[in-house]
Amino acid sequence: MSADRRIHFGGDYNPEQWPEEVWAEDTQLMKQAGVTMVTAGIFSWARVEPRPGDYEFGWFDRVMDNLGEAGVRVCLATMTASPPPWLSRLHPEVLPETEDGRRKWPGGRQHYCPSSPRYREYATRLVERLAARYAEHPALQLWHVGNEFGCHTRQCFCDVSAADFRRWLRERYGTVEALNDAWSTAFWSQRYDTFEEVLPPRLAPTFANPAQQLDYWRFSDDALRQCYLAELDVLRRVTPGVPVTTNLMPHHKPVDAFEWARHQDVMSLDFYQDPFDPETHLGAAVNFDLMRSARDGQPWMLLEQAPSAVNWRARNSPKPPGTMRLWSWQAVAQGADAVLYFQWRQSRGGAEKYHSAMVPHAGTDTRIFREVSELGRELASVPDIAGTRSRADAALLTDWNSWWALELDSHPSTALDQTLINRAHHAALLQAGVPCDILPPDRPLESYKLVVVPNLYLLSEENAERLAAYVEGGGHLLVSFFSGIVDDCDRVQLGGYPARLRRLLGLRVEEFWPLEECATLSVAEVAGEDGELSGAADLWSEAVDLEGAEAVATFAEGELAGRPAVTRHVHGSGTAWYVATRLEPSLMRRLMDRVREAASVHPVLPGLPDHVQATVREDEEQRFLFLLNHGAAEAVVELPEPMRDRLRPGSEAVSTVNLPARGVAVLQP
Ligand code: GAL
Repeated sequence: MSADRRIHFGGDYNPEQWPEEVWAEDTQLMKQAGVTMVTAGIFSWARVEPRPGDYEFGWFDRVMDNLGEAGVRVCLATMTASPPPWLSRLHPEVLPETEDGRRKWPGGRQHYCPSSPRYREYATRLVERLAARYAEHPALQLWHVGNEFGCHTRQCFCDVSAADFRRWLRERYGTVEALNDAWSTAFWSQRYDTFEEVLPPRLAPTFANPAQQLDYWRFSDDALRQCYLAELDVLRRVTPGVPVTTNLMPHHKPVDAFEWARHQDVMSLDFYQDPFDPETHLGAAVNFDLMRSARDGQPWMLLEQAPSAVNWRARNSPKPPGTMRLWSWQAVAQGADAVLYFQWRQSRGGAEKYHSAMVPHAGTDTRIFREVSELGRELASVPDIAGTRSRADAALLTDWNSWWALELDSHPSTALDQTLINRAHHAALLQAGVPCDILPPDRPLESYKLVVVPNLYLLSEENAERLAAYVEGGGHLLVSFFSGIVDDCDRVQLGGYPARLRRLLGLRVEEFWPLEECATLSVAEVAGEDGELSGAADLWSEAVDLEGAEAVATFAEGELAGRPAVTRHVHGSGTAWYVATRLEPSLMRRLMDRVREAASVHPVLPGLPDHVQATVREDEEQRFLFLLNHGAAEAVVELPEPMRDRLRPGSEAVSTVNLPARGVAVLQP
């Protein structure tokens, strides 16, 4: 096994916040905690370039050398996430503006307009110097570009952005006629005579043009990505052999993870589970599967998590003993090959002084440092997990374009939330122990036995045909409400909803009947079946007419009583299911069990107790079964054969695992 095969462990390292005397202690404590990698320099711009063009790298050389000598690898940040005060003093136009024209001033971070040529010029100039300086440094392992693009400045509405938007629109549409057509500007006298008249969707008296808003999401994602790509270009040229990542955020609407994945060598994610939320791991699970799937199953990095409490929620709970370990292992169980934290040493001053760190204010004689060091040791004891992968028979499709369009205003209901609806569908698989990939709708689907499509509101003709071909070829598809409604320009496909999926689903939706807040609706399985699919629904309902599909369950009350709520349609050699409402979680789970059994999609372990997550990672030589107990009570898990827990060296092989609350087991035959 190569010495480099390991699960990296460490955190953000911000040595500029501390006098140099502390640095030697840092590396000594890093060794004690089992740290193998830090990500450094994230907010160092003002210190390495205190005046424009005047670089002071000496102190950072010592940081790099110090880490290198201690055997700690460096994920080196390009330092461009927070411009120094002199940049906006010299060039105030780099500052971003809100939709109502208010400027965002320096004093926080990420105070730059993503379209600003000035910002990009100064940022790439710094990256050029940085890359040249550390290209050959033995500690350099990979590059970390920027930091959480779009975290604080998701969209900018300033004049620089407006000009860039017009350029972007010219490239997309060619002529102003095409733009007028795409944006349906015949409505409300919005016709443009030239591109010069076009603005970002700034604060307007009422609903701004939805197609304009949708394009602004696309444009803003692209503007952020151009900042990333400008730096990437420099890095590819100056350090061609060094891999590059940028840390994405979870459920991050401004940044299309699938698009960004194409330009990274390894995916990395920041995820801060919320100890106050008993279902926090379900949200994490969707994002972890997304990271794993975004680059075809390649291992990814959990680049940031908190050792304990964060400082940025309204109320910030510490992580009770064992939860940090459990949630770290969850990332590994779902394909991560690195577990890092924000941050190494807890700040004394600044806005994050109450954010936990690996070395807390109280020092190393602390629960946090002990739990961190224990995890470091544990991860080091199973280096052979690194590089192994997971296989899934089920895929969940999601699409940023559709997400942006789904959550626009002026809809039948503004309560639809892509993140929650994805999570509800994903949880029904996760809780059964079924691995699931998360893909955009234009990926090949043939290798999957089951494809789940939650709220794919915007659907191109091509992708609709892809879904139909998948089912015709024998695939099993589950589509949920308000899918396949609009085209790329947010124009409704006529002829009865969901026009592009009608033939495939064997039905027509005539009207949408969203529900009032907190209202529920009962759903009953149709006679002849076993009633398992009866229960409650909420949020949404639709008036469905069958056109070949059969009703599996109907609405049992209200205006739509007796009309289909869940349908099934045999199409070609496969089956397409449709859910015209939001089923409550246990009903969703029962439906998903039914659908996946029909599709012969099996859990990694049958009969999993509630709250236990089970995943597999493997390669040609070995197979790891991960069990994670997210519940508050001990769980008993039966194994198909006797297995040993790699986290309990020397323990006997067992056929029954007693997993304590927050317990983790990594099992091998
Ligand atoms: C992340 C960010 C870090 C730190 C952390 C605190 O969003 O990348 O720099 O601010 O949050 O939780």
